[in-house]
Amino acid sequence: MIIVGETNQVRENVNDLSERGNAQSHGANVGLIGDKITIRGGRPLVGRIEVKGAKNLVTKAMVAALLGETPSILRDVPNISDVRIVRGLLEAHGVKVTEGDEPGSLQLDPVDVESAHYADIDAHAGSSRIPILFCGPLLHRLGEAFIPELGGCRIGDRPIDYHLEVLRKFGAVVEKQPDGIRMSAPNGLKGTKVELPYPSVGATEQVLLTAVRAEGITELKNAAIEPEIMDLINILQKMGAIITVDTDRVIRIEGVESLQGYQHRALFDRNEAASWAAAALATDGDIFVGGAKQAEMLTFLNVFRKVGGAFDIHDDGIRFYHPGGDLKPVIIETDVHPGFMTDWQQPLVIALTHAHGVSIVHETVYEQRFGFVDALVEMGATIQIHRECLGGHPCRFGQRNFNHSAVIAGPTKLVGADIEVPDLRGGFSHLIAALTAEGTSTVSNVGIISRGYENFITKLRLLGADFDLEG
Ligand code: EPU
Repeated sequence: MIIVGETNQVRENVNDLSERGNAQSHGANVGLIGDKITIRGGRPLVGRIEVKGAKNLVTKAMVAALLGETPSILRDVPNISDVRIVRGLLEAHGVKVTEGDEPGSLQLDPVDVESAHYADIDAHAGSSRIPILFCGPLLHRLGEAFIPELGGCRIGDRPIDYHLEVLRKFGAVVEKQPDGIRMSAPNGLKGTKVELPYPSVGATEQVLLTAVRAEGITELKNAAIEPEIMDLINILQKMGAIITVDTDRVIRIEGVESLQGYQHRALFDRNEAASWAAAALATDGDIFVGGAKQAEMLTFLNVFRKVGGAFDIHDDGIRFYHPGGDLKPVIIETDVHPGFMTDWQQPLVIALTHAHGVSIVHETVYEQRFGFVDALVEMGATIQIHRECLGGHPCRFGQRNFNHSAVIAGPTKLVGADIEVPDLRGGFSHLIAALTAEGTSTVSNVGIISRGYENFITKLRLLGADFDLEG
């Protein structure tokens, strides 16, 4: 039996690699320390940090390696716990994962892919949603798969109905069982026509990773076209896939009989870059984010400038800074690409608490992504959450009783408090809040942040933050 999966939320420990050594290792237990930070706010963050490959590409690229008949090499892999979870799952299925040809690269050899035992999977499980993407590749390689309950950030219901529907359309037999979902493909997987109800990133990746080796042609309508998806398409093309991206969110995939390994340098993490940019603005700071690029951040940069932030674009990164003067309020609606990413709003909200006037953030991708706001209100922010669609356009959450619009009145001064990180991006925004607050804050559950931010403790130290680790 093949098992793909993870347990529910697992608290990750912070991995402060520069302090504990082993900086290039992507093993499962790297440099564990406590889960609490005491931050003395009020210091601007100033300096240079580097961002590596995008969490939301690297983890999928690692799964894609399962489809090759020869080893793949992935470069710029960040040392984050989501990568370690996927590595563990791949190893549980017989993929040999070793350090690659340069620091921060991984070699993934799928030649001996095999069924995994539940215990092996469970031992490597964590709070990531990537295991659902193992289905297509494992059905191609081994003919069956099993998915225990999924985890991930609690920012909404996060159903997997699109994924299961897509897999059924390819010919997978999906059977819900008390301990998870069992899948098989008795007649192989065949190309199909799919139209997604919403341009879901994960469901688009599910189609891509399944269609590339399915028999015949697959047409996907209403596909997500995020840069991370385009980079996954680049990887699949390197492996031998035939994929056409048409206008109007249509992707066509011509299935091929076999794929080879790839060599690829991952797209930079634009969510991490935007988070540090937001930290620079909120702390009156000046941060050079090495590795950040303009094209994938165009929409963010416009909003950053409208709020009153400044940036200089260089060949090797982007400098983000507070140029002085008052910050200005904005109205933001999060959206699928090329819109303003949902992952960017949480860190930016802290800067909006300093803006002179009323800002609105209308969250249209996840129905519950304002869980992090309670702590900010406790720290002195004036933020109200509403059920109505306040950004200007009605969204699919409008009539469904979800608190998905935030009204932020500023400027307010934040004061230190004891706060607990609720989710990955909300957690980073709590760190920023504590860094800008007057007095001392204790932020607990910070391990969650290491799911998506490589060496964030070391980076905070490099940028001059004043804090102690506890735990
Ligand atoms: N949806 C369904 N059914 C499905 C799949 C999705 O209703 O079967 C809904 C979701 O509930 C949500 C919307 O569709 O309301 C969009 O979800 P999507 O599938 O696009 O998101 P995802 O693939 O689960 C990825 C990133 C998220 C990022 C979103 C949007 C990964 C591992 N996660 O999630 O990243 O916010 O796309 O760009 O790639 C993060 O990095 O902190 C993070 C949450």
